[in-house]
Amino acid sequence: MKKNKILVTGVAGYIGGTFAYEVLKMGFKVYGVDSFINSNRNNIDIFFKNFPRDFNFLEIDLANDILELKKVFDEFKPDFIVHFAGLKSVSESQEKPDLYMANNVGSTRNLLENMNSETFFIFSSSATVYGNNPNQPLTEDSPIEATSVYGMSKIECENLIKDYAFNKGVKSICLRYFNPVGSHQEFVVVEDYLNQPDNLMPKLIECVKNGKNTINVYGSDYKTKDGTGERDYIHIIDLVEGHIAAIDKVQKIENIDFFNLGTGQSTSVVELISTFNKTNEQNIKINYVDRRLGDVAICYSNPLKAHNELNWQAKLSLERMCKDSWEAVQK
Ligand code: NAD
Ligand code: UD1
Repeated sequence: MKKNKILVTGVAGYIGGTFAYEVLKMGFKVYGVDSFINSNRNNIDIFFKNFPRDFNFLEIDLANDILELKKVFDEFKPDFIVHFAGLKSVSESQEKPDLYMANNVGSTRNLLENMNSETFFIFSSSATVYGNNPNQPLTEDSPIEATSVYGMSKIECENLIKDYAFNKGVKSICLRYFNPVGSHQEFVVVEDYLNQPDNLMPKLIECVKNGKNTINVYGSDYKTKDGTGERDYIHIIDLVEGHIAAIDKVQKIENIDFFNLGTGQSTSVVELISTFNKTNEQNIKINYVDRRLGDVAICYSNPLKAHNELNWQAKLSLERMCKDSWEAVQK
């Protein structure tokens, strides 16, 4: 029988919501869970309205509501768990380390406890697990290092998943995202630009929205192409497609595998701002300030393993990322 039931954690959020919309369109059955710690009911109401037969939802905190979680497994009997739920702010993780470790690691452990060799696990990891590495681009074999509590929580989750894969036969894939940006054109979930963002794209959006014409750029003296930080920005649509490829792949692996989800293109802060201005006919100017604590100079992927083994490749351009990010906010 075809496996088609997915438990999507963090379904009310930016990436989990976009993923759930795409797989519901493809005919999968989705049981979503979320605690709304960093989101609201908007996605949920849309899914119930558009996919009444194939969508179900329960508000639970995965780190604490163990009995309710077990009931979801017993009732829904998922084939796949795609685990997006987690707290993701680097700066907040430094202020609230206990919360970040308990929430991110506790949620992952509680899910794994309910799994067996018949269920497959896909985990939202991050390029943050590679820490500050001068050897770029990063491959899946690059050394792992935590530079923040957030990073530490992701590494600990990956290690737990490894344990369950080897000792309990839970076949798993950890996807290490680089810098997801942009929005789906039909199903618009906007990355939060209202809640004092510190990421570059939401900050640019905030500037335009609030009529500010200057953005602070953190550092101009890195050893990079123009002195500003370089990153690997990836469109959320490409990112979501990487998950769909992983759902196929996870059924064929022996225990666990790791994949970078990035474009392999390194873009500086100046390049991103100038592409944003050009594509969206804006004129945001740069104000150089000190480096941001904890920032790395360069972080970009070698995406070859995902090309070769997931049969997946990011396709959408930086222009498209900038255009869709801004259009989504206007919608
Ligand atoms: P998001 O904050 O928009 O979504 C995460 C969702 O998880 C939220 O709806 C939140 O309420 C929910 N959640 C958190 N803890 C929970 C818990 N204990 N129980 C139930 N629900 C809980 O974030 P996102 O951008 O969609 O990120 C999804 C995942 O991808 C996260 O694990 C994040 O660490 C990872 N990631 C994101 C990025 C990025 O730039 N957005 C980069 C790398 C990795
Ligand atoms: C940050 C996190 C990372 C997380 C990622 C995606 C840190 C140190 N790292 O990565 O763990 O996975 O977000 O959520 O926070 N910039 C400016 N001005 C701004 C905002 C950003 O110049 O107002 C620069 C940064 O210095 C960096 C680049 O833009 O060079 C990208 O920053 P950001 O979007 O925050 O992503 P990361 O730092 O890659």
